Amino acid sequence: MKVVAQIREPIDREMELFEAKFRDSMSSKVALLNRITYYIVNRKGKQMRPMFVFLTAKLLNNGEVNERTYRGASVIELIHTATLVHDDVVDESTKRRGFFSINALWKNKIAVLVGDYLLSKGLLLSIDHGDFDLLRIISVAVREMSEGELLQIEKARRLDITEEVYYEIIRQKTATLIAACCGLGASSVKPDTPDVETFRRFGELCGMAFQIKDDLFDYGSAQIGKPTGIDIKEQKMTLPLIHVLNKCSKEEKKWLINSVKNHNKDKKRVKEVIAFVKQGGGLEYAVQKMLAFKEEALELLGTYPRSDYKAALELMVNYVVDRKK
Ligand code: IPE
Ligand code: IPE
Ligand code: MG
Ligand code: MG
Repeated sequence: MKVVAQIREPIDREMELFEAKFRDSMSSKVALLNRITYYIVNRKGKQMRPMFVFLTAKLLNNGEVNERTYRGASVIELIHTATLVHDDVVDESTKRRGFFSINALWKNKIAVLVGDYLLSKGLLLSIDHGDFDLLRIISVAVREMSEGELLQIEKARRLDITEEVYYEIIRQKTATLIAACCGLGASSVKPDTPDVETFRRFGELCGMAFQIKDDLFDYGSAQIGKPTGIDIKEQKMTLPLIHVLNKCSKEEKKWLINSVKNHNKDKKRVKEVIAFVKQGGGLEYAVQKMLAFKEEALELLGTYPRSDYKAALELMVNYVVDRKK
């Protein structure tokens, strides 16, 4: 059996129900919006975030989830979708999940408004049902994601990014939402217990490994459903480049920074930078750091008793770093 099917097996029923609920959660009276959300739900992603929600809840509650768990999963996937729609505007990216991005098809103006709509639908789903503990977890994530993307832009502009700042950026822009998945999954069944914080941290560690993997994809040429080789063009300095910047000679550093600052849209020059990063061992270094986050996540999980859900979460952690898209 494929590893994704194996991970899904203990939550198959929940994921199926979730998909119907998620679809419903987007509906609007505005026909244009319905056309766009129809387009979105028919090009679904890996749905890793709801999987984190359900697996965490079931692990902690003898295999039982509740309506709060379902709503939490929908809110998270709504917010994830909203941020992808906005992110493609910010990154001027034309492909997502193997198809055209919303901004590519409907332009930036509409994409920004659709992102806001999805975000508000997510927050209202929690508010309308009085899930205020879950709403707090989600709102922290939404705030941090915006801060993370802005921190990334601020640092890119000054090109003085350190490895520490990189970790802070990816913690905020990506890991915080996966942390929210696990924290929320825990809180949906065991509110106000120490498990909520343990699983928040577990999700954060998975999220760190997840974004390093995403940044590694950008240096490759595999078909991942979105463009590769665009991070340097967007002046996004990620771990492979940061590592090489920190260990090369003064002249090389000058050349690298000048390339990213002034020649980031020059395809040939960007290719040279990518080759330099590869030669300098930037990818191997990033892989090593990614695996360290993975190990730390597995260690946390190790403190819980054996179950099908724990086994699936272990597979999930491995999938984060081994996935092909
Ligand atoms: C993409 O997330 C955004 C990042 C945080 C890198 P996913 O890779 O989980 O996106 P989908 O939902 O599967 O398309
Ligand atoms: C991911 O950043 C963070 C969010 C989407 C919030 P990226 O810009 O690297 O994500 P992709 O590669 O476009 O999915
Ligand atoms: Mg992007
Ligand atoms: Mg990326």
